[in-house]
Amino acid sequence: MQNFDFYNPTHILFGQGRIADLNQHIPADASVLLLYGGGSIKQNGVFGQVMAALGTRRVTEFGGIEPNPSYETLMRAVALVKRERIDFLLAVGGGSVIDGTKFIAAAALFEGAEPWAILEKRGNNVRCALPFGSVLTLPATGSEMNSGAVVTRKSLQAKMAFSSRHCFPRFSVLDPATTFSLPLRQVGNGVVDAFVHVMEQYLTYPVNAPLQDRFAEGLLLTLIEQGPQVLARPQDYAVRANLMWCACMALNGLISTGVPQDWATHMLGHELTALHGIDHAQTLAIILPSMLRIRKEAKRAKLLQYAARVWGLLDGDEDSRIAAAIEYTQDFFEQMGVKTRLADYDLNATHIAPILSALESHRMVALGEKRDVTLEISRQVLELSL
Ligand code: NZQ
Ligand code: ZN
Repeated sequence: MQNFDFYNPTHILFGQGRIADLNQHIPADASVLLLYGGGSIKQNGVFGQVMAALGTRRVTEFGGIEPNPSYETLMRAVALVKRERIDFLLAVGGGSVIDGTKFIAAAALFEGAEPWAILEKRGNNVRCALPFGSVLTLPATGSEMNSGAVVTRKSLQAKMAFSSRHCFPRFSVLDPATTFSLPLRQVGNGVVDAFVHVMEQYLTYPVNAPLQDRFAEGLLLTLIEQGPQVLARPQDYAVRANLMWCACMALNGLISTGVPQDWATHMLGHELTALHGIDHAQTLAIILPSMLRIRKEAKRAKLLQYAARVWGLLDGDEDSRIAAAIEYTQDFFEQMGVKTRLADYDLNATHIAPILSALESHRMVALGEKRDVTLEISRQVLELSL
């Protein structure tokens, strides 16, 4: 096992009716900025519950944070924070609203000339951030219990990630009942995103970390079990609760302790979203199966473990077990309603060169757990995804 730091200060308030409890986690005299997306929280009753919990505190609203939050939108919120002397941020929504809030929290106190530098330095230059909490409405990203965020600068067609220990939410409310109103497309996206988060931290090479492996396999098995159930019974609270906790645990730092991490699938996926507006999880469903096929030799030991323990594949030669495990993975994404080929999103071979140029300009030329995913490997992965 490799050396590691494990630090996660986020207080999770889990369960039905827990939005009311945010009252105890925000200072009574706080001036709060309530951040949200396109308005789903005003249709499903979440907004009303949040406002009731905030009571008599001074609350300013900032809506309109779009999926794949843009720097341009977020900088308008930063100006509002400064103008209104806001001292606590409350994100109410999915990963985009929470990620956007992390950036606003850091940018509002950033001392450099241009907060885009936070993305350019991947967060290493963040010295402090405003305190913030979240009310999660879409289980997927894990943003509710981690310190990372992804921001898109539309004018540059750049989608970049940063993280900082100052950007953990103080608390996050996870009420599974808030997810009943999700469109099925977002439900499927959430399951796939969480699944691929686990794969990025698990499917690398063995380092004798059996506990982390079994945590990861437990998450994958639970997602495979519960995912189809949420599509069959969308009103089942227990299924919603299991998925919400899985997605949170998939990317809160626990399963990455002491093990190598890949993230090449995510880096290629970010370029697909930035250039073509494809949903984050859709990009992962396109890339992961090809990424595993192309890098089969480097990942052989873990692929065999995955085939056996997650898909129960014990018979046949090694290559056929690996091929079947990747096939089952791709079928699972399709079963969740997430298409897995570039052609499904109207992209063809002519779109590959611009994706590779974007990877190069973002210095994404040595990816993966061994930094051996070159532009040439990325090209092969994209070609296999057509
Ligand atoms: O904007 P509203 O109206 O709220 O609608 C949203 C949005 O259209 C809707 N939605 C959310 N909760 C709902 C709901 N609709 C009905 N009922 C509800 N309860 O869902 C749509 C998508 O929301 P979004 O927040 O964009 O989705 P998601 O949670 O998948 O977040 C995606 C973003 O997170 C980033 C992605 O790159 C992408 O920008 N990621 C963040 C990570 C992190 N911080 O650790 C890791 C991930 O790998 C990912 O990169
Ligand atoms: Zn993701």
